[in-house]
Amino acid sequence: MILIIDFGSQYNQLIARRVREHHVYCQIEPPDISLSTIRDMQPEGIILSGGPASIYEKNSPRVDAGIFTLGIPVLGICYGLQFMVHALGGDVIAAAKREYGFAELQIISQEGIFKDIEPTTKCWMSHGDTIGKLPQGFTITASTPNTPVAAAQDRKRRFYGLQFHPEVVHTPAGKQILGNFLFTVCRCQENWTMKSFAREAIDEIHSQVGNGKVILGLSGGVDSSVAAVLLHRAIGNQLTCVFVDNGVLRQGEAQKVQEVFQKHFHMKLRFVRARKIFLDRLRGVENPEKKRKIIGRTFIEIFEAEAKKIKGVGCLAQGTLYPDIIESRSTFGGPSAVIKSHHNVGGLPKRMKLKLVEPLKHLFKDEVRLLGKELGLPEEMVWRQPFPGPGLAIRIIGEVTEKRLTILKKADVVLLDEIRAAELYGKLWQCFAVLLPIKSVGIMGDQRTYENILAIRAVTSDDAMTADWARIPHELLAKISNRIINEVRGVNRVVYDISSKPPSTIEWE
Ligand code: XMP
Repeated sequence: MILIIDFGSQYNQLIARRVREHHVYCQIEPPDISLSTIRDMQPEGIILSGGPASIYEKNSPRVDAGIFTLGIPVLGICYGLQFMVHALGGDVIAAAKREYGFAELQIISQEGIFKDIEPTTKCWMSHGDTIGKLPQGFTITASTPNTPVAAAQDRKRRFYGLQFHPEVVHTPAGKQILGNFLFTVCRCQENWTMKSFAREAIDEIHSQVGNGKVILGLSGGVDSSVAAVLLHRAIGNQLTCVFVDNGVLRQGEAQKVQEVFQKHFHMKLRFVRARKIFLDRLRGVENPEKKRKIIGRTFIEIFEAEAKKIKGVGCLAQGTLYPDIIESRSTFGGPSAVIKSHHNVGGLPKRMKLKLVEPLKHLFKDEVRLLGKELGLPEEMVWRQPFPGPGLAIRIIGEVTEKRLTILKKADVVLLDEIRAAELYGKLWQCFAVLLPIKSVGIMGDQRTYENILAIRAVTSDDAMTADWARIPHELLAKISNRIINEVRGVNRVVYDISSKPPSTIEWE
């Protein structure tokens, strides 16, 4: 395995993903990790990430410099390089010119991490400080016009440093450079696959759970679905999944979950029909945060009541992913203002005094999808776009009523039908319809209409933190609009949302 020390770079998770794309397991840990823990982990290599701090700042992050005495290869990236240089007796200085963006990299020595890399290649820079003097034993291995020490190495001790970011796509040779570090320098093996992961995860679940019973809230989304199948593989009928039909799901969603998990996988599934209670509580509520809170609270209430009906439950399983774990412990500027109260089951374990089982907590989303495939989940479920916990309730602006739900569900079916037919479903982060609380005048067959407006939201994104509105071909938009107005009673106008995130958000509420 490779250990990545998190110095707070926004690209950290990318480093981890690049390493894993080479089928090498890696873990991101905060800099305060102890030397003995590192020793116990027995990493084949250590990567020191970039970070926003300057090494001379008072509280700049530092890892125990003992890592340089373990005989383990180290790769420092940007701040990571500066940390290494500083710790080993070199000098870091403020650059005369901050460098940000593309730079032409001249490789001086095509060996080690630059093995088989073109002598000139583009790289992505983002730094204020730069290397003034290298520690003893180091030589310069690459330069750019503005940065004489763009890369350096101490071959004997197997220490390597890059001032640029190999993990971003803007450094075309980056993947190969990281690969060279993993295979040529650290002699890692390509054995991190979802097959091997599943095997190990199943063993771990066994040792965590023993003969106990586990409960899992199944939403039909990728994460909880994959977690359910993995747990079921491991402990079979000791697992009970609870699916709550809250009435604000997409058309056919609830049946699909029953079909896949009960009929296909033969899992113990408690299917709770709670549509009425959710819609009753949502009656007359227009405020988005109120809607979210009502749905979140009601879900927890129902879930807890179901759990009580199952005797001897000791564990609660969740499909928590690696980015959630990394972000939640981030010491460098965690989540700031609450923009929207997300509906998740994070509050459950504390209240229910259950042991938490999170078998996906070391995986990224794309890996979870691969794992789902490996475990035999239908493609359609594996490649599903994200769907928010509060469901269609936050896509009906204003009050949620049966009538408005019916309109939105129908429009949603038409929209996704066309998006799939145009083979765009997998290319979009999300694509959905939003029902607006205003009516407009139209004309249908010589008759005046006064009906609802429906908005289409389609975005591209990598992680939902930022998003751009999708440039869907006009012809396709025309077809979608035409079909919705013709096929969905109650809609006489369709508009397309052309806002990016930020400043807008993906969902409207
Ligand atoms: P926003 O609207 O904040 O959404 O740009 C970012 C991503 O999060 C999804 N989303 C949610 N997911 N529970 C969830 O599990 C929620 O309460 C929730 N609200 C928004 C949204 O669909 C988008 O992918």
